[in-house]
Amino acid sequence: MHARRCNRIGWYVAFVAFVAVPWTAARAEAPRFGRDPAIEKRIDDLIGRMTLEEKLGQLTQQWGAETQDVNPVVTRTKRDDMLGLIRAGKVGSLLGTHGAEYTNALQKAAFEESKYKIPLILGNDVIHGYRTIFPIPLGGAATWDPKLVEQAAHVAAVESAATGTHWTFAPMVDVCRDPRWGRVAEGAGEDPLLGSEMAAAAVRGFQGDDLTAPDSVVACAKHYVAYGAPEGGRDYNTVDISLQTLHDVYLPPFRAAVDAGVGTLMSAFNEINGVPASGCRYTLTTVLRDQWHFDGFVVSDWGSVIEMVAHGYASDPADAAAKAITAGVDMDMSSFSYRDHLPRAVADGRVPESVVDEALRRVLRVKFAIGLFDDPYTDPSLEKKVILTPEHRQVAREVARSSFVLLRNEGDLLPIGEDVKSIAVIGPLADSQKDPLGTWAGVGKAEDVVTVLDGIKQRAGAGVTVRHARGCDVRGDDTSGIAEAVEAAEQSDLVVLVIGESDDMSGEGHSRASIELPGVQRQLAQKLHATGKPVAVVLLNGRPMALPWLAENIPAILVAWHPGVECGNAIADVLFGDFNPCGKLPITFPRATGQIPIYTAHKNTGRPPRDDRYTSKYIDLPWTPQYPFGYGLSYTQFTYRNLSIKAQELKADGTLEVAVDVANAGKRDGAEIVQLYVRDLVGSSTRPVRQLVGFQKVQIPAGQDRRVKFSVPVRSLGFHNWDMQYVVEPGDFQFFIADLEGTFRVVE
Ligand code: GLC
Repeated sequence: MHARRCNRIGWYVAFVAFVAVPWTAARAEAPRFGRDPAIEKRIDDLIGRMTLEEKLGQLTQQWGAETQDVNPVVTRTKRDDMLGLIRAGKVGSLLGTHGAEYTNALQKAAFEESKYKIPLILGNDVIHGYRTIFPIPLGGAATWDPKLVEQAAHVAAVESAATGTHWTFAPMVDVCRDPRWGRVAEGAGEDPLLGSEMAAAAVRGFQGDDLTAPDSVVACAKHYVAYGAPEGGRDYNTVDISLQTLHDVYLPPFRAAVDAGVGTLMSAFNEINGVPASGCRYTLTTVLRDQWHFDGFVVSDWGSVIEMVAHGYASDPADAAAKAITAGVDMDMSSFSYRDHLPRAVADGRVPESVVDEALRRVLRVKFAIGLFDDPYTDPSLEKKVILTPEHRQVAREVARSSFVLLRNEGDLLPIGEDVKSIAVIGPLADSQKDPLGTWAGVGKAEDVVTVLDGIKQRAGAGVTVRHARGCDVRGDDTSGIAEAVEAAEQSDLVVLVIGESDDMSGEGHSRASIELPGVQRQLAQKLHATGKPVAVVLLNGRPMALPWLAENIPAILVAWHPGVECGNAIADVLFGDFNPCGKLPITFPRATGQIPIYTAHKNTGRPPRDDRYTSKYIDLPWTPQYPFGYGLSYTQFTYRNLSIKAQELKADGTLEVAVDVANAGKRDGAEIVQLYVRDLVGSSTRPVRQLVGFQKVQIPAGQDRRVKFSVPVRSLGFHNWDMQYVVEPGDFQFFIADLEGTFRVVE
């Protein structure tokens, strides 16, 4: 038994972010499926010999974990029973399997002991790391650095592939403009362009250039589509949006993933305008296959096929299965509705067997493409060489500190100066190892995490006294610990207050009706503030949070998301100034839950907010966000000058070329994320007041400046009009970079 892949362990140099590739830059040829005649012939031969039941067995995925600790909720199948199902051809894919010994045993039953010797494809939720856990994807997006995100995904691929995973159910690319939704943590925030760049970067990182390589896993763009727009921000809830919004906001990151060569997509739980996403032929076939020419396969989400009965879209499981497979869902995750109910639907003539054959063809193409038919086994010696290595931790530290967003730094309280001889590290998350892992933390272990407290202690050194007090819990109304925290603060030069959300307050099934600080954490902050000692807040959070009191009263606020295993080291790097924070918000921070939805690419309305009464605003709160998309401070100051445009008049097939000087006017080297926005002033449909059309991350040494240039195809400034045509209309545009702006015109 030899490894399916050679023994290539990549070197991971700590990455200095360069200018990110503009959105439309050509990519290396993406992997494609179904183009090899020899493989197509082998697939024809297999399908030609299989019965309908045998085909449906291959389109069935089920939970395969051997131990209950991977997911105690799901009932496990004993190994011998599982091996029997595999030998009998009842299952073609498993999820939740881990470890070369176990996965090789499963694979042997399929590849050597079953009738057609078709290997299993084994999938797992490797969302932001496998054992080396990176920041949650929302934090990864806050780096605005596709190269870093690609690198993190590559590390996750190396570790998960070495333990028998062939397929990750990532990247999650759902645009979200409602932070009440628990799964906002898993995506790239509110913007289609940023989301598209992150989606493509993750696909490249997971899949690499060679799908059969030892450090490659096939990726899965999910959840197709518009799962991030549930009414009320309540998970699994109804999605009702215009087709224009579907195409202009929610589909682009999936298109970017497909263009990057993603091998699979996962259909979502939600309905889209009355049709469940797992039964929607328009999105699954008309858009995905006919328009985008996607050539991989689609797996349903867990049970989303049979849930079409509960949706009231299917009359029974057979009807649900028939609707799903004819719409374009090729593999059924864990509802068994294909295996148990499609035979009748085919017998009744509701589903032509050719539809089953096409679904199986798509699945087999991916299995061939990733090398499973050549050698489906994993080298058991790999795991101990690649799991949680110092190099992987270094990448995790780099991504984490690049993801932090400095929201406030009044009086340059940060970085911590030499004059600080005592620090009180306070808060319910200061000493937590579990919470920094965040949601969907793979096989990450709390014991691997460097806490904020430990990170500060290690960095502060012997000359600084570090005190610790919990103060309160994340939730609950117990204030009995606040007095001890106040006492620790009074004895110290500086307070670092670590508050926010626990890891289980975001993620699937964890939506919140309020995005304010939970529990009595704000009271704790107020009491510490009242001591008169300077307070710096480090927020550990899975979503944007409403922080009105902190924003008004706390001099320094650093958003750290749930930053993964290197939490404490990365936070200390920033707090002590070893790393100059450069993250920007990938999603708007509202002042209050009541403002949701609130996002940058909003429309102007006929009565844009102004001071007078009859305009679009609130009587009890400013209409503007607390902190906007794209916002973030640095320890240095960047200034923008000399904004220029190459041509004032552009044709629809032309290119918008603008440039700007960015100077680092401070004393610290730093990275700035330069963002280009446009506004189409008049359209046959109203257009956003700010649309992100380009961004670049540039490293600028203190005292120096850089000329940053953008080239954006005018075609990418278009939109879907009322008639659902993608149009780029002539007319006047504005463009914006930081506090500078200009105009151009698109002409016939
Ligand atoms: C879950 C999630 C999906 C995940 C799948 C397998 O319900 O919706 O994101 O990949 O099931 O765990």
